[in-house]
Formats: sequence, C-alpha cells, structure tokens
Amino acid sequence: MPEFDLVIRGGDVATETATFPSDVGVRDGRIAALAPGLTKGEREVDARGKLVLPGGVDSHCHIEQLSSMGVMCADDFHSATVSAAFGGTTTVIPFCAQHRGDSLVEVLKDYSSRAAAKAVIDYGFHLIIANPDEQTLATDLPAAIASGIRSFKIFMTYDRMRLHDEQILDVMAAARRHGALVMVHAENHGMISWLAGRMVKQGNVLPRYHAICHTRGSEAEAIQRVIALAELVDCPILVVHVSTPEGIEQIRRARARGVKVFGETCPQYLFLTAKDIDIGMQGAMFCCSPPPRDEAAQEACWQGLKDGALHVYSSDHAPYRMDASGKLPKGEKTTFKEMANGVPGLELRLPLLFSFGYKTGRLTLQEFVNLTATRHAQTYGLYPQKGTIAVGSDADLAIWDPEKRVRVTAELLHDATGYTPYAGRELTGWPVSVFSRGEQVVDGGNFLGKPGRGRFLQRVPSDALQPAGRCIPEISQLKTWNTPLSP
Ligand code: URP
Ligand code: ZN
Ligand code: ZN
Repeated sequence: MPEFDLVIRGGDVATETATFPSDVGVRDGRIAALAPGLTKGEREVDARGKLVLPGGVDSHCHIEQLSSMGVMCADDFHSATVSAAFGGTTTVIPFCAQHRGDSLVEVLKDYSSRAAAKAVIDYGFHLIIANPDEQTLATDLPAAIASGIRSFKIFMTYDRMRLHDEQILDVMAAARRHGALVMVHAENHGMISWLAGRMVKQGNVLPRYHAICHTRGSEAEAIQRVIALAELVDCPILVVHVSTPEGIEQIRRARARGVKVFGETCPQYLFLTAKDIDIGMQGAMFCCSPPPRDEAAQEACWQGLKDGALHVYSSDHAPYRMDASGKLPKGEKTTFKEMANGVPGLELRLPLLFSFGYKTGRLTLQEFVNLTATRHAQTYGLYPQKGTIAVGSDADLAIWDPEKRVRVTAELLHDATGYTPYAGRELTGWPVSVFSRGEQVVDGGNFLGKPGRGRFLQRVPSDALQPAGRCIPEISQLKTWNTPLSP
C-alpha cells in the first residue's frame, strides 16, 4: 500500500517564505510530506520544470449575487468556481448579500444552499450588511459570526446599500464585540451622486462619465472618514478595491500611527485605466466602482502592494453580461447610472499578476504567493488550512508552467460573462494542473471536478481581528466598552 495517494514530483515549490525543489506527498486530501525523493505514490504527477504554488484564495468576488443595484450576476456558483479553478484559485470567499428589509438568516440559508449544490472548490462567505437593525446586529449577526462567517462588507455609497456614519459605527461596534472584520466600500456618496445628477441632466450619459463622477477625491474622503470611524471604536477594517494614490496614502498614514487598517486592490487598478472606458457604449465592459484611473494610480497600487499599504490582491469579480440582463438594461439608451457596476476577473487574477508582476521582476515569487493566497487565508481566518504549502495543510495546489505563453481571449475563459476586459493581453505563465484537497480538478483545458464537491469553510478568528488597543481614551473609560456599545 503506497504511503501517499498522490506525489507531485520534481517541481519547485513556492510558499510565502521560500522557493525550494521538493516533491509534495498527499494523503487524505492533505499535504503529508514535503521533501525530495518521496516514495512512490498511488498516483504520480511529473512537475519537473514547473512551479508548484498554493492554490489562490480570492477573498473578494461576487457570485450568484444580487448586486447593489438589484441585478443578478452572470455567474452562478458552478461557473464561477470552475472559472476560478482554471485560473489557479482553489478557495473563494464570495458574499451573501443582505438588502434593505432582508432577514440575514434567510439570506444565509439561500446562499448556502445554492453554493452547496454547485461549488466545485472550497468556499467561505462574507456578509453584506445593508439592514443594520436590532434583529441583525444583536441576534443574527453574532450567530452568523459564530458559525464561521467572520467578515462582512458595508457600503458608503449606492442608494440601496449605503450606511450612514452612525450605522457604520453600530456595525463596527458589533464586529469588534463578536470578532469579525469589517470590509468597506469607501466612496463618498454625495460627491458622486451630485456630479452624476448634473451629468445626466446635461445628457452626458456614456460610460466615460462613470469614471468622471467617481472622483479620486470621493475615494480619499471616504477612506479618511471610515478610518476615523474605525479609530473611534478601535475596530480593525479592510478597505476593499482601493484605486487611488490618495486613498493608499490615507491607509499608509493610518497604519503608521497604529490603526488596524488593511487595504486591498484588484487587477482592474493595475492593468486598466479610465481610457479603456472612453470608447462609447462598449466602455461599459470596464465600468466598475471605483473606476480604473491612470498610469500614475497604477504605479501607486504597485507601490502599495510592495510596501504593505495594500495587503491583498483580490479579483472583485462582479460579472455582468453586455446585454439587457446585465450591463445594458435599456440597450444603447442605458445611462452610466443604470448599468451594473463590475468587471470579471476570477480566472485571470493570478495569471495577470504572475505575468506582469512576477515575470517582469516587480514582485518576487514570495510576494506573489502572499498577495494571491497566503495573506487572504491569514486575514480571513483560513490559515494554515488554506493559502500555503505545508505539512498538514489542505492539498490545494496549482502546477504552473512559468514559460507558457497565452493570448487572452473571452473564449479561453470559463465564466459566464462573455467578455474579458483583458482581451488581447499576452501572458507568460499559466496554471496547467490544479488540485483541490488532493483531487485534480483542472488538467490542461479539461475540468474534472463535480458540482457540489466544494466545502463550506468555517473561518476562525484571525490576528487581523485583534483590536489595536488604542481607541480614544474617553471611549475606553466608558463602562459599557467591550459590552454592549450597541444600538
Ligand atoms: O463595481 C464593482 N466593484 N462592483 C461590484 C460591487 C462592489 O462594489 O464591490
Ligand atoms: Zn465594493
Ligand atoms: Zn466587490
């Protein structure tokens, strides 16, 4: 009887700390041994000349979700997770979205049953909190957190989702008390809607005006404000999809003074600019919030990823088709205010960063692994089960051909969007075989995993959740602090 169910033999294994030649021995879905010259496995996979990397963890993606504007995503839990796996990602953390008036309990039941039936890789959930009433904050949210959903997103903009400052503080106080991370979509709603209202009145309705209305200042203002709110109650936060030098600088400064704030950026802020949107109605393909900016902002994002102001790199996969079901509810007459926001990116997240980050020498392989896998797992309470290659960890692995050249086309990809914002890009490096808990799910162009094989991941409290212990003195003296600073 062989010692291992699977041995991936002869590759260069890269983790968050080192790259080294090693075989990987897998037993019962976990990594059982890491060393050269392992005994023969029941199954042998030749990885000579290849890199063996931890499967990516995508901690920001929207799957089979009703968007903030009430539009259903193009991808369901099957197509999205298949697409993720083809791109070298083996864990996703999408959102269960509460809309105003929704019961969190019902929302969770609904998303859980759909994901359980269809997901082909493992998944956790974040919540979106748009209805922070007594029932949600005092009862349903603590129960959800205790069940392993240790993060939730709040919005400072979008008519149907946004919370005002006092509600944000209520949510942060609940998160602090029960041990969850608050993710924030930080854009100033008033600035955007004031400008957008005027643009539309003047007949300026093409996608390019979306990028103009979502000003850099609106991001910087909201990030500064939400950091101040988080500081008031000493609640760790993670600002999602940061796009501007000004926003990154707010995070950098707050971190320097000891505030527990993390930043995230996404492929669209490294590889697209507002010029991509400025092509008439087709520009809708590139419309997301915040919008892509300019080359200087791209550089600032790269710098933020290098120096830690930006902690993780996620896809913010928000897939909508270029038709009436998604981006263009009124066809050619759709104004930028009416089109669903978001771009697809689950499958290309890793290949883009590998090619333009690692292969160009901007990032080391360890930085690549950290930004695409390890830090996501660490921050969101999945490490070391996910996000690394270590004895005892799940055997979630991607074998990369570091020299494989790929020209991106929509047809190459497996999501249901029907387009990619990155069409025509020439990439070097591609995940050719992907394993989830030791089971091969991707073999070149073939998908081998069955719907429903993905497991829900109960996440544990991570270090990211520990308050910095520096809330303002007046607050820490309050007797009620740490007990019910609640609505
Ligand atoms: O435009 C975007 N990013 N759409 C997805 C929803 C969100 O705000 O993350
Ligand atoms: Zn957002
Ligand atoms: Zn998002």
